[in-house]
Amino acid sequence: MTLWGGAFSQPTDDAVRRLNDSLRFDWRLYDADITGSVAWAEALAGAGVITSAERDALLSGLEAVRAEFAAGQFVPAPADEDIHTAVERRLGEIAGPLAGKLHTGRSRNDQVATDVLLWLLDAAPHLSALIGGLMAALLTQAEQHGGTIMPGTTHFQPAQPLSAAHWLLSHFWALARDVARLEGFADAWRDKCPLGAGALAGTPYAIDRGRLAEQLGFRAPAPNSLDAVADRDHAAEFLFAAALTGVHLSRLAEDLILFANPAFGFVRLDERYSTGSSLMPQKRNPDPLELARGKAGRLAGYLAGLLTTLKGLPSGYNKDLQEDKEPLFDAYDTLSALLPPLSGLIGALALVPERMRAALDEGLLATDLADYLVGRGVPFRQAHGLAGQAVRLAETKGVPLSALTADDYRALSDAFGPDVAQVFDFDAAVARRAAFGGTGEVREQIARARAWLAGRGVGAS
Ligand code: ARG
Repeated sequence: MTLWGGAFSQPTDDAVRRLNDSLRFDWRLYDADITGSVAWAEALAGAGVITSAERDALLSGLEAVRAEFAAGQFVPAPADEDIHTAVERRLGEIAGPLAGKLHTGRSRNDQVATDVLLWLLDAAPHLSALIGGLMAALLTQAEQHGGTIMPGTTHFQPAQPLSAAHWLLSHFWALARDVARLEGFADAWRDKCPLGAGALAGTPYAIDRGRLAEQLGFRAPAPNSLDAVADRDHAAEFLFAAALTGVHLSRLAEDLILFANPAFGFVRLDERYSTGSSLMPQKRNPDPLELARGKAGRLAGYLAGLLTTLKGLPSGYNKDLQEDKEPLFDAYDTLSALLPPLSGLIGALALVPERMRAALDEGLLATDLADYLVGRGVPFRQAHGLAGQAVRLAETKGVPLSALTADDYRALSDAFGPDVAQVFDFDAAVARRAAFGGTGEVREQIARARAWLAGRGVGAS
């Protein structure tokens, strides 16, 4: 028997029921659902709709249901359509007909919106902590490689030398934005507690929605009941945060996949974080990194899917909104499964400074050659042209820039002095870029990264 069957003379078709039912995935909301019901029972008592004795009986019944779920002992009944009906049905078995009073003035529409928000408010900090773990691993590697120099690229072509720590921290700060984004979204979610919105028009009972909101950890109730039951911005925001985190993990993974290729050999993956080939004995495959790259597609798809679901809906609750939950749960599970092994992989990663240094080509110093001329009064645009001519001459002669003679340089411009040789120093080129955020002040950047994590209680050492 459904909870809404009063006006119906026939049972729902079995295939429709299977399509409609959501308990197989929304059981994960049980804790949020029961927390919401506890607050609602108290609000009903506060409004004089139920007595305090009735409230107490409902509360102890609800806690008994919660305990069954927590212990994995909850037994679903065939008529349990979703988590809300399942909890109410079981509450009735425990607390008797009184359970029928709990849904007074409430709808599953404001209930489910509240449940999802409570679930997200709990999920977001868990994800942040996992992201923080990966950030800490990147930072620890960076601390060991402040003096390691590697070729940096733009367009994936050799560009300028970089401190390896600077490269590692570039991924750290992307993840820092992911954490801050989740925190910012979650903070805004606290301003819109949907409970008390009813089905769409509000509740006719004298519910103190401000108190109700605060009791559930919100700052304020949602300001419009019709908006409150249809608003899934929080779901879309979470999926965006998850998708962009996935993109950041994918880009980190892609760097590492390339750098682990023996043609680069800049990093070696620990055996525990790579796999072998069933055919080719020499292979060391970066499977976890490839999965990080692959799962980013799935996460981005969830966001596109939910936005598409939302875009055509008329006002109020529509059953389409039930489609918000599986992507939320899977996005959370996907990142929860991905982040710990990635943190472990980064922690166990071996950078190979000799290979990085061996890959440094003096072409990476062509900008510095131009800057050398700038230091001698040549306007940059002209200096760029002269340095370009030096690059071309070195290429024609088949020698590195530093092997051009003083005469070669002077033939190009008398702005080149005998001290031009000082330009051909990769460490000096890195050190020179010492303005805030540059690779030359990576030690300071490392300290800022450490402070960022400590400020969030992650990895303080
Ligand atoms: N299972 C539903 C969902 O996830 C709960 C809300 C159902 N509301 C309704 N009026 N049928 O969206």
